Amino acid sequence: MGLKERVEVSSPGKLMLFGEHAVVYDQPCIVTAVNQRLMVTVEAREDGKLVVNAPDVGLEGYTRNLADMGKKEKVPKAVKFVETAVSNYIEAYPGVKGVNISTRSQFSSKFGFGSSSAVTVGVVKGMAEVFGKNISDRELFDLSYKTVLNVQGVGSGFDLAAAIWGGTVYFVTGGKEISPMDIGELPLVVGYTGIKADTSTFVRQVAELREEYTDMVDSIFNLISDVVEEGKVVLEQGSQRKIGELMDINQGLLNSLGVSTPEIENLVFAVRQSGAHGAKLSGAGGGDCMIAYTPAFARRKVEEAIKYAGGVVIDVKTGAEGVRVEP
Ligand code: MEV
Repeated sequence: MGLKERVEVSSPGKLMLFGEHAVVYDQPCIVTAVNQRLMVTVEAREDGKLVVNAPDVGLEGYTRNLADMGKKEKVPKAVKFVETAVSNYIEAYPGVKGVNISTRSQFSSKFGFGSSSAVTVGVVKGMAEVFGKNISDRELFDLSYKTVLNVQGVGSGFDLAAAIWGGTVYFVTGGKEISPMDIGELPLVVGYTGIKADTSTFVRQVAELREEYTDMVDSIFNLISDVVEEGKVVLEQGSQRKIGELMDINQGLLNSLGVSTPEIENLVFAVRQSGAHGAKLSGAGGGDCMIAYTPAFARRKVEEAIKYAGGVVIDVKTGAEGVRVEP
């Protein structure tokens, strides 16, 4: 693999279909990649510096000496994933003399589509391309997952799998299993609650609940796992009614973990009453997006219901391509 001066890679955002929260505790989930992408441009430099531009999050010309990275200095939140990914890449594959990283997103970081994970995957993949390392998808996952854990301390890594493999993926915590599923695009309507939720906060909140009610919460995780296993079967069969019913069951279980909100429930009930087969939050809860599994004839009505209930319809297609080098 030869060296390139400059490479642009893009990776998709994601939506969790089944299994959030339980997947943090050695359980499976099913995630799908969406066709809104995050672009990362990587360019080699020779002066020992990392320069980051991320205009979408108001960051221009952030500069750091590669030699200083890893020192416990305060790093702006917007650059944490980039800087940690660069640092982990260089630790694994030394010899980088300097690098420019620019990011640009087709989706708002507020939606919970996994922008931090998509950025991380883009940085690692882009650096491998520019600095001539032929890394496998598994290596890309492992370095990216290390980065996410360094920055956030928690997380299953499912969103990295969506960003790397694309399509719809059956995934077990930390990538213990990553199995692409053979299903087409799903008839989802996506509603944004208008509230940006912080994933780590809700993962920690569930951890606290589990400390207090360990057996009960573990039983809920086991039930969520049952939903995921059954969800895998019915998604592959294309049984619309059952997919919807399982989403409703999954939503009830998430509610019992305390991660739903009035805004989410408002949208969920509105779409169910307007003809969706079923609906649930997607992600950590606390806000972000909900998904409604919707027959084609009810789509318009479901979209109207989301708007009427105060949400914003986000137009995305599922099963999008994983990380790729742009021409
Ligand atoms: C957040 O989008 C999904 C969680 O399961 C966290 C994770 O899996 O990393 C809550």
